[in-house]
Amino acid sequence: MAAAYRNTMTNVCKWCDNSNPICDGAVCFTNCSLSSYCDSVEEICVTVWKQDNDSVRVTSLCHHPLLPLENVLVPSYNSVRCVMQAMPSETGRLYVCGCVNEQECNDKLIFYNTSDGYAVLHSREALPVAAISLLPPLLLAVMIAVLFYLYRTQRLRKRSKLWAEKAGNGTSVPLHSRKAKFSYRLSSSLTAGSQGEMSTACANSINHNTELLPIELDQRVGKGRFAEVWRAKLKHTASGHHEIVAVKIFPFQEYLSWRYERHIFTDADLKHENVLQFITSEERMSSLQKDYWIITAYHARGNLKDHLTHHVLSWPALLKMAGSIVNGVAHLHSDYTPCGTAKIAIAHRDIKSTNILVKSDSTCALCDFGIALRLDPSLTVDDFANSGQVGTARYMAPEVLETRVNLEDLESFKQMDVYSLSLVLWEVASRCDAIGEVRNYELPFGSMVQQHPCVETMRDVVLHGRGRPDIPDTWRRDPGMEILSDTIAECWDHDPEARLTAHCVAERFNIMEQVVRDGVS
Ligand code: ADE
Repeated sequence: MAAAYRNTMTNVCKWCDNSNPICDGAVCFTNCSLSSYCDSVEEICVTVWKQDNDSVRVTSLCHHPLLPLENVLVPSYNSVRCVMQAMPSETGRLYVCGCVNEQECNDKLIFYNTSDGYAVLHSREALPVAAISLLPPLLLAVMIAVLFYLYRTQRLRKRSKLWAEKAGNGTSVPLHSRKAKFSYRLSSSLTAGSQGEMSTACANSINHNTELLPIELDQRVGKGRFAEVWRAKLKHTASGHHEIVAVKIFPFQEYLSWRYERHIFTDADLKHENVLQFITSEERMSSLQKDYWIITAYHARGNLKDHLTHHVLSWPALLKMAGSIVNGVAHLHSDYTPCGTAKIAIAHRDIKSTNILVKSDSTCALCDFGIALRLDPSLTVDDFANSGQVGTARYMAPEVLETRVNLEDLESFKQMDVYSLSLVLWEVASRCDAIGEVRNYELPFGSMVQQHPCVETMRDVVLHGRGRPDIPDTWRRDPGMEILSDTIAECWDHDPEARLTAHCVAERFNIMEQVVRDGVS
């Protein structure tokens, strides 16, 4: 997955104004402790080295290589290494380097390619002289940094104590966490809800903390292609209490998958009551190697498939459960947050009943954003070129099975999601007592294909055979179920453009709720 979507991922670059580099021979480091994802895929990591008689300052940032910086263009920018090049400057010496694809590649600055050899000379000879003359201000800076560090750690301790106490009381306070060399926007504030689950809010908090959350892994509850999911205890150190969270653990080799999913999650606009609540992400040292964690709310009732296997739903329960799933998808697809601000639409691309969690109030939350796609209108067809046949074959829309997706139109990705959503709605409907006789739970196409059908099998059934799960006439005897059956059929239309949008489906659910309220059903 990771490689296929790299071209839609932005670089992660060092990002500091005026840091004081540290050099060893011809190699220097920016000495910058902050990083950030670049805003767009075109942006590369750049470091600018400015030097006058006795001082060197470096600025590291994301930058579009076609735009000038310090009145010059970034010299060569296809390298994974940041090779410093001397540039014309009216004020002292100027060196610039650019690089791509390696995380924080603009941290390590290499000087061996400079045309005048000055930087090598500088780093070997001039630097000790400069260092001696800079010693007093440096000492002062170190003292200030130490004092600032002590002040911050003290404040953090106080805040985490306050947080732990307040979380124990069910009061909302900002969550601290993330080890992060990265300075990041933490997209959720952790709120202990009435049922011990976390709810979402519109506001964002910025997380600059460097501490790992006090988490103890309990039990593995799931295993996917790229990661394992664990139930874990998040301890509130002050009160001695804990709450249960989920930890998705990516092994070292799956760094890109972690980074990708984290990027989708840390997009603040994902927050919604029907989308799994992100808490934070961490890099952890396990006994042998580094692991990458995504920490989210935990939902003890498990996934929708398991729930439907063991429960029959009443019509109101169906409306609540299925309506919440539709609202989650409509939120992902929307260009607006519930607060009315603009957001980037997201296609999930792997909607299925095992990627939907049942919350304690019997509504649902969408999870697993490992192959989700940000439908950024500024991206081009080329950016989506590798975005063809992904997801789970059983839930793939006919155009995906045929690899005939219209990449020119971002709506295509939403239409694929709506097809998968229709199969989930069918699964829920098939376990509702409003349809008459309720059979044992079956996956869509359960009787037509084997347990893990491949793309070829699904192509035969869905594309060539135009097969869809059965909606018996008995379903339509109930007025609410009739509207739902029609809605499902309109969502799995062979023609993607003829399908309802998730927003339309949400509207249909409002109508069905009215039918219940008015007692027609
Ligand atoms: N399985 C995958 N993610 C989960 C979560 N957040 N809670 C419970 N089970 C899960």
